[in-house]
Amino acid sequence: MANTSPPQLHIAPTPDEVLSQLADFIVALATSRLATQDRFTVALSGGSSPKKLYTLLASPAYRTRVRWEQVVFFFGDERYVPPTDAESNYRLAHDTLLGPLGIAPAQVVAVDTSLPPAAAAQDYSRQIAQFFGAAPPRLDLVLLGLGEDAHTASLFPGTSVLQATAAGAEAVFLEAKQVYRITLTAPLLNQADTVAFLVYGPEKAAAVQQVLAQPKGVAPLPAQLIAPASGRLHWFLDEAAAARLPAGGR
Ligand code: 6PG
Repeated sequence: MANTSPPQLHIAPTPDEVLSQLADFIVALATSRLATQDRFTVALSGGSSPKKLYTLLASPAYRTRVRWEQVVFFFGDERYVPPTDAESNYRLAHDTLLGPLGIAPAQVVAVDTSLPPAAAAQDYSRQIAQFFGAAPPRLDLVLLGLGEDAHTASLFPGTSVLQATAAGAEAVFLEAKQVYRITLTAPLLNQADTVAFLVYGPEKAAAVQQVLAQPKGVAPLPAQLIAPASGRLHWFLDEAAAARLPAGGR
């Protein structure tokens, strides 16, 4: 049963304040979950926005506040490039978070982009299913960003993956960019316990308004597909990104 509770908005004046709020949120959630379970699973987002978040989490102010050895890292999506490529989401996470925290390879479930795109997606789905065993894949936390066209992960407007009904990973070919991406599908993302968007900057204000303030209609925008069954959907925004929401989102 889909949950219809509204998302919780966390709006701060500046990007740095948003990043601190989200970092504190992640620490609190991980601590809470690890009080009753032995692992905390998180799907990392890609792009440029989360780079400062990962650097902050690996900084002296935060690195001791989570039992990182009990955290298992997944990726909401991946660019179809080698893990050493500057475009790689894995490389972003490795350079800013996983490496600095000394995360063991066994704690990372990543896309094998040495395989052909469809096989890479199938292999990623297999790895996820293997990790969760008989239980449906239910990530404790999914971090997401938002593109100016309201895409999230690699759920881009006009791509067939928006209609995916299986909870897993799929390969997406982006005609405009002539590149492949591997992405978790909306059904898998919506099985998560908690989903948190991190969006800041004035260039995102229009997309934020379209996603949060406009009705979904018959063809929801990609980010409007994200509605976790748990109802725990959070948006961490700076005032610039929230500027076009009614009353600035407050
Ligand atoms: C990616 C992300 C993508 C990203 C948005 C926003 O692989 O790029 O998964 O969904 O979150 O494109 O990117 P920026 O943070 O760079 O604006």
